[in-house]
Amino acid sequence: MKTKMDFLKMKQQHEPIVMLTAYDYPSAKYAEAAGVDMILVGDSLGMVVLGYDSTIPVTVDDMIHHTKAVKRGATDTFIVTDMPFMSYHLSKEDTMRNAARIIQESGAHALKLEGAGEVLGAIRDITNAGVPVVGHLGLTPQSVGVLGGYRVQGRDAEEAKKLIEDAKKCEEAGAIALVLECVPRQLAEEISKQLSIPTIGIGAGVEADGQVLVYHDVLTYGVERVPKFVKQYESLREPIMFSLSQYVKEVKARQFPAEQHTFTMKQEQLSALYG
Ligand code: KIV
Ligand code: NA
Repeated sequence: MKTKMDFLKMKQQHEPIVMLTAYDYPSAKYAEAAGVDMILVGDSLGMVVLGYDSTIPVTVDDMIHHTKAVKRGATDTFIVTDMPFMSYHLSKEDTMRNAARIIQESGAHALKLEGAGEVLGAIRDITNAGVPVVGHLGLTPQSVGVLGGYRVQGRDAEEAKKLIEDAKKCEEAGAIALVLECVPRQLAEEISKQLSIPTIGIGAGVEADGQVLVYHDVLTYGVERVPKFVKQYESLREPIMFSLSQYVKEVKARQFPAEQHTFTMKQEQLSALYG
């Protein structure tokens, strides 16, 4: 299993770090088999798995439940779990209790927290308690209300300067890596140059030290619209809809189950049964 030191070395050697989200046993199994370097149990599960329209309703219990399943599917991959909305903002004690619960109950290897500012203290405290933290700047979906929607961040010089400063503060606070979401490529490149920890981009251009995408977006699995920064490879929609509607049709037509799906009793047992 790759860990913090491997990710640092990958950055130094310019080997891109591949992160992918996973939320359950099969997605984790496939992600690991495909060779991803780290798995993110993202609070995006609120949208792509649970059907909410944002990440706001996701709870600490949800994150634990899904991370446990991911752990069973990917036994040899570094797993980062998102701390959900408002689980690291109320007080130091509450933050530490939530962090401890996720790590101890789920077996995640690291936690991801969105933002800088007030959150820097949480990054520092959790790191000091011995738990690796991944930062997340740019478009931070848990603050979508304050940001004014899902849009590119750091496009003007002033915003960009603030993001560079925040990125450095995340590193100083102890973060082992930094997710950069929805920022111009030039800004992601500059931040990647200025930090010694790896940046993991999503909608941040090819110059970031790594990339992350959402499992369901990559596969077109249950998602209708995806952002510009997503690349959709083979779509699962068609094979899934083909198989499921074929199943419905064949049951209605009594074509399923066929002989090969069926158990039978021997004639002598039938005679014994009916006399
Ligand atoms: O929740 C998530 O999937 C994320 C990634 C998009 C970085 O935070
Ligand atoms: Na997230």
